[in-house]
Amino acid sequence: MGRQFFVGGNFKMNPVTREQKNALVKVLNDADIDTNVEVVIAPPALYLIPLKETLRKEIQVAAQNSYFKTSGAFTGEISPAQLVDAGIPYVILGHSERRTLFHETSELVADKTRAAIDAGLRVILCVGETLAEREAERTKAVVDAQLAPVVAALTPADWDKVVVAYEPVWAIGTGKVASAAQAQAAHKDIRAFLAGAVSPAVAESTRIIYGGSVTAANCKELGGQPDVDGFLVGGASLKPEFVDIINTKR
Ligand code: G3P
Repeated sequence: MGRQFFVGGNFKMNPVTREQKNALVKVLNDADIDTNVEVVIAPPALYLIPLKETLRKEIQVAAQNSYFKTSGAFTGEISPAQLVDAGIPYVILGHSERRTLFHETSELVADKTRAAIDAGLRVILCVGETLAEREAERTKAVVDAQLAPVVAALTPADWDKVVVAYEPVWAIGTGKVASAAQAQAAHKDIRAFLAGAVSPAVAESTRIIYGGSVTAANCKELGGQPDVDGFLVGGASLKPEFVDIINTKR
């Protein structure tokens, strides 16, 4: 079976008011969207339940982070079990902003991924290199090293709960998008890594989506690449053009 196109909207720490949040929901609820696409919106934790309750049912929601413990003295954290109890199906883990600003290691990301899947969540697992790493031709080495602890923590069967998001750090929020060829090459490398480290079947079935300055203007070319199975969209997910990105394949 082919890989279903996936478009995620990562709102990050936006919007700032409930009124703006409601306006974003209205745009999505009123839009004509391609029902063959899996659409998942990741709002700030505060808005998870309101979004789940007000968004049209074809659009799912995701948390932007979760911890690896179920409960306890972990101020500021949300557990996978709490997300599952609230009916939240997905969580984003390993986003470069978490890795850089909050010093999350690939080992921590692997622990969180294990715990999320154990609790019953699906995971959008982010990986990607910095500009310096790309210029040093270390993209594949860096991404493989980010994936390796997750591979060690999961069974092959767990991978049907994972969507891998390739997000080159230099393209995030910069307006500097990876070329279609750069994205395709990185996605192909990730698939090859999964084939060797997990199994060819897992490599074939796992969705690998691209994130980093995706817009309505560049989504068709990126989405036309054979190993690009969708997008994780930041800034443009807060604008009406997000609907055009969801509809990339139309
Ligand atoms: O997770 C999405 C992301 O980091 C890309 O952000 O604003 O470049 O689309 P943006």
